[in-house]
Amino acid sequence: MHTTVGIIGGGPAGLLLARLLHLAGIDSVVLESRDRAYVEQRQRAGILEQGAVDVLRECGAGERMDREGLVHDGIELRFDRRSHRIDFPSLTGGRRVMVYAQTEVVKDLIALQFRQGGGPLLFEAQARAVTGIDTDRPAVHFTHEGGERTLTCDYVIGCDGFHGITRAAMPDLATYERTYPYSWLGIMADVPPSCDELIYAHSERGFALHSMRSTTVSRIYLQVPNGTDPAQWPDERIWDELDARFAVDGDWKLERGPITAKSVLPMRSFVAEPMRHGRVFLAGDAAHIVPPTGAKGLNLAFSDVVVLARAFAHLHATGSAELLDAYSATCLRRAWRAEHFSYFMTTTLHTDPAQSPFDTRLQLSQLDRIATSTAAATELAENYTGLPIG
Ligand code: FAD
Ligand code: DHB
Repeated sequence: MHTTVGIIGGGPAGLLLARLLHLAGIDSVVLESRDRAYVEQRQRAGILEQGAVDVLRECGAGERMDREGLVHDGIELRFDRRSHRIDFPSLTGGRRVMVYAQTEVVKDLIALQFRQGGGPLLFEAQARAVTGIDTDRPAVHFTHEGGERTLTCDYVIGCDGFHGITRAAMPDLATYERTYPYSWLGIMADVPPSCDELIYAHSERGFALHSMRSTTVSRIYLQVPNGTDPAQWPDERIWDELDARFAVDGDWKLERGPITAKSVLPMRSFVAEPMRHGRVFLAGDAAHIVPPTGAKGLNLAFSDVVVLARAFAHLHATGSAELLDAYSATCLRRAWRAEHFSYFMTTTLHTDPAQSPFDTRLQLSQLDRIATSTAAATELAENYTGLPIG
């Protein structure tokens, strides 16, 4: 089998890339190791930046998002028992974000791919190796329906996430990494959110984040030590701890409800450079990981493939590889900005177990600065709603 663009991984990056290439008249094949139900149910991100929303609309995948997604104009920062709202549109010239789960984005992109005759999207097709990466005809060797298969390609794109195989096949990558001395315990609860907008809470007991999936389902995260077993956190303990961390002067109350899922997410910052070797490219989590505070991971994956699809469209239309040649530098610039923002949000809001009272004072001073300076709030709002793609 041969294709112009072989895409390894049918997560958000791979699926959106296949869609954008199809619209540009470029054929592709997506190889996804998991089955469709697994990919559609894997609980992950929940916030789409303005740019991601725009791109989903433009590529025809925005209909259900516009019906069911929740547009948010700001977030609340909580610290020192105070609450402060950051208003995005007034600080950014009208930018906002959308609460719409990654599971739903993935479902919409898969449905569109099948409905509108995009290139093949193979589930349970596990890439084992990429060969010929220094040639004009790289190949992906994969298993599918019990057999060994080969897909030859003009280009191979590794959209196979942090644990994929593509990055490992690329020689001479420089990698940059940071780990954090805490994780998140994430819960899903069948209770209407106790807030209209997300709450990012700093407390000396640790960070907490109140998010949502709909008007009836709350998604809440709390900082826990690395290595935590969710079984150590019975429901009552979670709600009591959240009450303490979200505590604020005034009459706010956290509504409790049945917890339907609990999982622990480790945190990492990681970047691989460059994002290209010959005709093999990396996009999304395969190239970079951010800690989740600030909700950049999915959005960054989307911006990579938007840049890549534009570059392929340019090549297709003009024969010029100039945008493709600029791909890695273009994406890394944006990726490092998101790395910094995610690091900043994480380290400003979490309590490091080794943190001194001095460090806590610095965090509170920074949060107070954001709450009282338009310049500091604008910096946060511009990064949160997303910088321009490209
Ligand atoms: P992925 O979504 O990882 O997709 C990669 C795909 O490649 C997968 O479907 C995988 O099955 C497939 N694959 C892997 N290896 C192979 C192979 N050899 N052959 C074929 N297919 C392969 N971001 C936020 O903004 N907010 C959050 O709350 C948040 N929570 C997260 C929770 C978890 C547990 C994780 C892991 C990530 C979370 N993220 C979050 C990050 C966000 O979900 C990712 O940035 C986003 O999924 C990146 O999309 P991607 O397509 O690059 O990679
Ligand atoms: C969600 C995740 C995040 O990392 C974040 O900063 C905001 C919201 C979420 O899953 O809803």
